Amino acid sequence: MVYLTRSEHFNAAHKLYNPAWSYEKNEEVFGKCANENWHGHNYELLVTVKGEPSPDTGFVFDVKRLSDIIKEHVIEKVDHRNLNVDVTFMEGKMCSTENLAIAIWKELIPHLPAGVKLHCIKLYETPRIYVEYFGE
Ligand code: NI
Repeated sequence: MVYLTRSEHFNAAHKLYNPAWSYEKNEEVFGKCANENWHGHNYELLVTVKGEPSPDTGFVFDVKRLSDIIKEHVIEKVDHRNLNVDVTFMEGKMCSTENLAIAIWKELIPHLPAGVKLHCIKLYETPRIYVEYFGE
């Protein structure tokens, strides 16, 4: 089994704010991320697929095709957008990096060809903070 990773980049705005809580509680829990007037992050998205290399190509999957799939189904929808208001697959969810990684997994799964298994979504919110999601 070989693991193949493609990295993509996007910029997006968000805020973390639970409408069921008071302003003070949101400030206490989310700090600067609760800022009413939004803030942005430079996200790095690493998508890892796994499989056996093809005897014909030596590839687990054509990495250009993987990049095209990520761009079409994720990057186009989130890059230079406001995650809370512009992105339909984040509707009704708290816009945390955790929830974004899960949502990206769900967006990609239907578009990967049979035989190519999604292994991990690794999403950096900052160079020092990232989440990993393995589908469970
Ligand atoms: Ni934030």
